[in-house]
Amino acid sequence: MRLDKYISNATDLSRSEVKRMIKAGVVEIEYQIVTNPATKVISDQEVSLDGSIINAYKHRYFMLNKPAGIVSVTKDANYPTAISLIYEHRSEELQIAGRLDVDTTGLLLVTDDGKWNHRLTSPRSKCSKIYAVTLANPIDSDYSDILANGVLLEGEKHRCLPATMEQIDSHCLTLAIGEGKYHQVKRMFVALGNHVVKLHRFQVGDIVLDDDLAEGDYRALSDAEVASI
Ligand code: URA
Repeated sequence: MRLDKYISNATDLSRSEVKRMIKAGVVEIEYQIVTNPATKVISDQEVSLDGSIINAYKHRYFMLNKPAGIVSVTKDANYPTAISLIYEHRSEELQIAGRLDVDTTGLLLVTDDGKWNHRLTSPRSKCSKIYAVTLANPIDSDYSDILANGVLLEGEKHRCLPATMEQIDSHCLTLAIGEGKYHQVKRMFVALGNHVVKLHRFQVGDIVLDDDLAEGDYRALSDAEVASI
């Protein structure tokens, strides 16, 4: 990548601001001052601006507390998208790692790292997702066993992976599932003769939705959270 593009990608500076800075001699590649904005940077090289190292190739990872009414796709004609809530430069490079329905709230992971996204969402990953579920009708005493044995969803040939539930009260429970089929939680409870009225995801793998994040807010993941996937 050209040096001026590299720096402008990694910062909020425009290409012309970056060119001026490069020509002023405040940019180094591998500790050598470089004054030609067209110099090529390769991925392992260390680039510094005014003495601070910057890295345009560093991936970004965020957790968003998704409100209802927001869609988990990058573009939509009818609803605002989750990506539109992430105020970062180069937001068009961000992808949603594991979608939520428009009416589901809670933990949505967003990244520009395709491999990390794949590790999280691939059917083979079996990364657990934990939901707070509110049902229209009371929870039956046999739900826990049925879920643990793997529910057969309408239109599917194979049972779901075993799921674990913890009952909170007559209509509310937490449910941990190890996969992410289309509308999976809602369809699981339809298969049990019930109906989900409220769905909130609060954990994916070891990443737990931050209590301090208001609906619609987001924060960068810590290195430990990124490494946990
Ligand atoms: N299962 C659903 O049915 N909906 C979601 O948004 C997530 C899991």
